[in-house]
Amino acid sequence: MAIRFNEPFLTGHERANLDAVFASGHFAGNGPFTKRAHAQLQARTGAHHALLTHSCTGALELAAMLLDLAPGDEVLMPSFTFVSTATAFMRTGATVRFCEIDPATMTLDVADAARRLTPRTKAIVPVHYAGVGADMAGVLALARAHGLAVVEDAAQGLDAARDGQALGTFAPLAALSFHETKNIHCGLGGALLINDEALFDRAEDMWERGTDRSKMFKGLVDKYSWVSPGSSFYPSELQAAFLSAQLQAVDENSLRRKAIWARYAAGLADLAAAGLLTLPQVPADARTNGHAFFILLPTVARADLLRETLHAQGIQLTIHYVPLHTSKMGAELGYAPDDLPVTRSAAERLLRLPLHFNLTDADVDQVVAAIGRFLRPGVAA
Ligand SMILES: Cc1ncc(COP(=O)(O)O)c(C=O)c1O
Repeated sequence: MAIRFNEPFLTGHERANLDAVFASGHFAGNGPFTKRAHAQLQARTGAHHALLTHSCTGALELAAMLLDLAPGDEVLMPSFTFVSTATAFMRTGATVRFCEIDPATMTLDVADAARRLTPRTKAIVPVHYAGVGADMAGVLALARAHGLAVVEDAAQGLDAARDGQALGTFAPLAALSFHETKNIHCGLGGALLINDEALFDRAEDMWERGTDRSKMFKGLVDKYSWVSPGSSFYPSELQAAFLSAQLQAVDENSLRRKAIWARYAAGLADLAAAGLLTLPQVPADARTNGHAFFILLPTVARADLLRETLHAQGIQLTIHYVPLHTSKMGAELGYAPDDLPVTRSAAERLLRLPLHFNLTDADVDQVVAAIGRFLRPGVAA
């Protein structure tokens, strides 16, 4: 039986919520299920406000708009991230400055970010990778010292924490993803978490296509009109209804994913001790949501061969994030692949293992055994 890298999570309660949308006749968005999902996200994370978006990309774009960035401004972020982290900020005319990561967690190396500060640096965007939080204490200290805005890219961060605090609530703004590859999803979806009360009014207007329509619904204005820049950022009620069902199952989802994560870590510990691969590290104050499990191979050639060998056995291992500075766009921005050597080396040697709610313990053991056979040929698993 093939072992797939991802299978989208389903709770079995999504259809009842979709039927409720049909019964209500309210399909377009910003309706009862959107409000319910906002409340669920606020309760889950402790964020002051949540606004559902059509994607995490949309949430990052809304965050970038709120920062009022202009051409010439610079934004620090890791090169090891998804393209949307960069494109969202580039749309404002700002310049992105890529930083190194700490390969133990694959999250932002704050000391490296500090070295890349210039008088034009206006913002910093840490990315929480694989459900493990970036060094937010370090990021916030740097931001305070230099007057930088902070946006957390928490695409993979729902239900994870550092120092007992939910990811997505450290910075004034944070973006979540509900793409089907995430723990909890609605096909495509996202949310902006707003933790600074002063930003909420403008955020809500921008979210409502640059109008004060939400304020009309609250009885604060008689007629709605154009009040700010904006876009059509929110999803339909169908997606909100689907997501709302999923949000009720966050605990169940995280529990299973964390068990799979721990089984991989235990199963591969001997290979790591023998120096044949490196396991991800979870900082002592971090609580993971079990989003992803990755290994680092000693060389790029070994990583490529392992991926191909297991693929031939029906086991899907995937690479993750071609570093942005090594991409075609990165070259157009003036980067050479060796400009960020730590990032390049780690990213090229990284493989993500299958991890989804439906994966059985036997599946995990099969993946571990296959990796063992590859790394230690001739040794019985
Ligand atoms: C770190 C990060 N940011 C942003 C995104 C974009 O998310 P979405 O597909 O919801 O737009 C992703 C997608 O996986 C991601 O990994």
